[in-house]
Amino acid sequence: MRETITCIDDLKRLAQRRVPRMFYDYADSGAWTEGTYRANESDFQKIKLRQRVAVDMRNRTLESEMVGQKVAMPVALAPTGLTGMQHADGEILAARAAAKFGVPFTLSTMSICSIEDVAANSPAPFWFQLYVMRDRDFAGRLIDRAKAAGCSALVLTLDLQILGQRHKDVRNGLSAPPRLTLPNIINMATKPGWCFGMLGTKRRTFGNIVGHAKGVSDMSQLASWTNEQFDPALSWEDVAWIKERWGGKLILKGILDAEDAKMAAKTGADAIIVSNHGGRQLDGALSSIAMLPRIVDAVGDQVEIHIDGGIRSGQDVLKSVALGAKGTYIGRAFLYGLGAGGEAGVTKALEVIRKELDVTMALCGHRDIRNIRHDMNDTIIAENPFATRKGM
Ligand code: GLV
Repeated sequence: MRETITCIDDLKRLAQRRVPRMFYDYADSGAWTEGTYRANESDFQKIKLRQRVAVDMRNRTLESEMVGQKVAMPVALAPTGLTGMQHADGEILAARAAAKFGVPFTLSTMSICSIEDVAANSPAPFWFQLYVMRDRDFAGRLIDRAKAAGCSALVLTLDLQILGQRHKDVRNGLSAPPRLTLPNIINMATKPGWCFGMLGTKRRTFGNIVGHAKGVSDMSQLASWTNEQFDPALSWEDVAWIKERWGGKLILKGILDAEDAKMAAKTGADAIIVSNHGGRQLDGALSSIAMLPRIVDAVGDQVEIHIDGGIRSGQDVLKSVALGAKGTYIGRAFLYGLGAGGEAGVTKALEVIRKELDVTMALCGHRDIRNIRHDMNDTIIAENPFATRKGM
């Protein structure tokens, strides 16, 4: 990439210039008032770090583990829908960037490139995120396909049985591929790089669904196929058959409540993700980082805890780790990189976060991210606004 990139916001500005409005808006939006979407980011600012000095800062390491797998830093790429619409072949490019960097890439059920396509074009195993459909055979086949493709963890999303309304998507008539209406054509004409990329690929609609699922009237429209296909009756009992059929590492995504965290821990899953779906589902819910300490108090000794939502810097990663998360996920942060510059842009996003994380860790007096203890007040000052009695 030719531009000078100092932070994720620089990538965001470039992505806004290069990606058609419909898809940029899809990434950069939350449900209804977007209050929870905003709180996910702004709540991180309320947490203050503890500066330490005259500590030997040589030989630092960010290496860690998520669900027993080695990671170059405790940051995975979150499952994000329509990634292949931010940039042609987006899922393949992001999977490659993640593999080269040494962090997990999670492929969404709602991806443009299919499971098989990403497996054939990425150098390392990736994780697969599952939405459970009313058609249980189809959901079961998705699990089998992920297994056959060598995916090394299954991320089961529990917070999207029905879709939260994002006003921009309704106004933009979100679909993949985009409809060739006059406003869309005019907008796309201002994004020539994106258009050339799309003309050069066959991957333009939901690769995991089209040709595999039955009974959806309009495959191109996210809203219509989630309404028709997603199972609103999904329950804790379903987690058991999914775990059994999958048989590998299982991560439950979308936990934002201590009671639900206890239920999730009882399923025997390997990890849970504290998440409000990037503020895209229940607007008015607390931010993920505000909920993290309560969930750590409730089940931190029973299950590995991860977090997503609002992570835009390495400082946010460090704060999450200091509050008890073993792993974190970036969604929008890597999508902005992808929209801005394809694979190189995703690599850039990861490099920005790694540098911020490394320097912040050092200035907080640590050399090894695995030594940061959430119960020791050693990285965050005690006036953490989200403190619980038991934890911080
Ligand atoms: C899908 O996961 C979405 O949030 O749009």
